[in-house]
Amino acid sequence: MKAKIQEKFENLFGEEGILYASAGRINLIGEHTDYNGGYVFPGAINFGIMAAIKPNGTNTVKVFALDMDEYVEFEIGPETAPDKHWSKYVFGVCQEILKRGGKVEGFNAVFAGDVPNGAGLSSSAALESTFAFALNDLFNEGRIDKFELAKIGQSTEHNYCGVKCGIMDQFASLFGKEGSLIRLNCKTGEYKYFPFHPKGYKLVLIDTCVKHLLADSAYNKRRESCERAAAAIRKNHADVEFLSDAKRLWLDEVRGEITEEDFLRAEYVIGEVQRVLDVCDALERDDYETVGEMMYQTHFGLSHLYEVSCEELDFLNKLARKCEVTGSRVMGGGFGGCTINLVKDELYDRFIDTAVEKFTEKFGHAPKVYDVVISDGARKL
Ligand code: GLA
Repeated sequence: MKAKIQEKFENLFGEEGILYASAGRINLIGEHTDYNGGYVFPGAINFGIMAAIKPNGTNTVKVFALDMDEYVEFEIGPETAPDKHWSKYVFGVCQEILKRGGKVEGFNAVFAGDVPNGAGLSSSAALESTFAFALNDLFNEGRIDKFELAKIGQSTEHNYCGVKCGIMDQFASLFGKEGSLIRLNCKTGEYKYFPFHPKGYKLVLIDTCVKHLLADSAYNKRRESCERAAAAIRKNHADVEFLSDAKRLWLDEVRGEITEEDFLRAEYVIGEVQRVLDVCDALERDDYETVGEMMYQTHFGLSHLYEVSCEELDFLNKLARKCEVTGSRVMGGGFGGCTINLVKDELYDRFIDTAVEKFTEKFGHAPKVYDVVISDGARKL
């Protein structure tokens, strides 16, 4: 990929660019907890975005997206986003750096990537993080700290792409470290690396290759439900800033005041925050059976209480249980994308063969299988 990117950069701009990269992410557990101030437990993966970039001494940004074979130009400053979807991420990152008093001047860029789109592996966060990291390095002498760079990516989603996401994806993409998952407290920003080398097990993603329409607006609606539930609880318990601060009992107290739908959403979140902590404890004992059981519980919650699963994902989850897979659940925002599976080495081949065969039989297209390796996040190459 490196050579192809540099070759295109030279063709377009007559010189070499400086190479930067960032990664997609997985999340072992802790889904839809980030915007509720709870814990998440992600890691960066060996699928990412790479870009060649170089300041061009003008006020114009010139970006070529190699995979899409598309070119976009925009001026630094004016608040009108270009209309190609991918370019909103680059444009947004520039704007968000400027809003924070950082510096961005014109530059040339060519980028490409191998994060499957719409699979729930955060290709957009990888793109934002690559550019945020690079522009910090090129124009700001690295002065913007990495957590702020993650927020720059998150604000790009909020303000230029219409997704009111949490901080998990951009955080994982920037802070990722080879061989480690990171438990992040999304309320305080505290985080801890957990080496993850489950001996005798593999982590594998199975991509349904479906992305249901209106996933972004459904995502934003989930967030609103959680905020309403938290507001109701706050009337009785003033120090509840986020839903993750609430005890289950406190949710029961307001059951009559919120809709049944909001109640179920909140019930899921409060359970999920605890499951992340339980999984971290289990990992410290190398107790993968408990880790796996928690993953199944998360799937149940995401499917029945939070309602972000779909037929294809539920099918894969049931099949995993049948094949005695240790843990399996929908990963990421939901409404399509992947399941993440923790599988014993000796069951791996049979599980994958069965999943591909049965899924194809039922839905008429094959799922994709990704063996992920936990890898480094944003970096200069
Ligand atoms: C998407 C969002 C994240 C997070 C997950 C669900 O990936 O971008 O912030 O909310 O969904 O855990």
